[in-house]
Amino acid sequence: MSTRNSSDLAGKVALVSGAARGIGRAIALRLAKAGADVGLVDINPAVEETARLVRETGRKACIATADISDGTAAREAAARVAAELAPVDLLVNNAGIVNNIAPVEKMSDEAWQREVGVNLTGAFNLVRATVASMAARGFGRIVNISSVAARGGLARQVGYSATKAGLLGLTHTVALEYARKGVTCNAVLPGMVETENVKAMPAEIREEAMAMTPACRFGEPEEIAALVAFLCGPEAGYITGAEIDISGGGHLNSLVLGSRRELKK
Ligand SMILES: NC(=O)c1ccc[n+]([C@@H]2O[C@H](COP(=O)([O-])OP(=O)(O)OC[C@H]3O[C@@H](n4cnc5c(N)ncnc54)[C@H](O)[C@@H]3O)[C@@H](O)[C@H]2O)c1
Repeated sequence: MSTRNSSDLAGKVALVSGAARGIGRAIALRLAKAGADVGLVDINPAVEETARLVRETGRKACIATADISDGTAAREAAARVAAELAPVDLLVNNAGIVNNIAPVEKMSDEAWQREVGVNLTGAFNLVRATVASMAARGFGRIVNISSVAARGGLARQVGYSATKAGLLGLTHTVALEYARKGVTCNAVLPGMVETENVKAMPAEIREEAMAMTPACRFGEPEEIAALVAFLCGPEAGYITGAEIDISGGGHLNSLVLGSRRELKK
């Protein structure tokens, strides 16, 4: 059993996708505070601010601006982080989008393809770009940020829900293939988290979601980040292929918010 603190990531290099804001920024900062240098991959130049905050903790930050849905761009981003910091030990697939809110019959090809491209192919691209090196060095941690929508479905967000469920399949398979090589792969399934997107939701929707959450509040990005840091840490080596809900009990409701509203109509 390790005697190191569960949050001790000194000497590790992390790559966090979608690190420009929200949960991704909180994860990058939490990993840096635990001692990791952090590669920040995002399509949004606001990732500069996350880099500044990481450096304030005393750790190194490397910015790799990239659209992770593009396999070449994702590979180049991972290579850049490895060249500037060191090969990636901890990969957090956090970048995710909702591209369209519409019933299945009205979902455009473009919206569906974009959600699959970013949410699922993007994660696959970054796993493929980093996992062989982790396995060769006998250590790696991969955390995929899924959603409670992976299980309960989400009316009018078929692409989002399907890709978040797809991430669970990716998680299980990577866990199976690499467990003997010291690489773990787990999925984190948040409920509603107080990010910019969620704060901007209409009050009526926020209230309804809150009422369906046993904890009667939304999560904070830092709470998701703390779970990710634990899964990346030395004491989490026997956890792999897991799907961990972090939803204030919201996952206990079989239907998530969007679906319940639809059924009332
Ligand atoms: N906020 C919530 O309530 C909640 C709940 C469950 C799951 N999640 C998941 O957590 C993750 C983060 O959510 P958030 O609320 O912080 O989102 P956010 O929209 O605030 O941040 C997502 C980040 O991903 C980046 N991104 C988008 N497309 C990209 C691309 N093609 N390449 C690289 N970067 C890209 C964005 O620029 C942005 O910085 C997402 O995967 C989301 O689905 C969020």
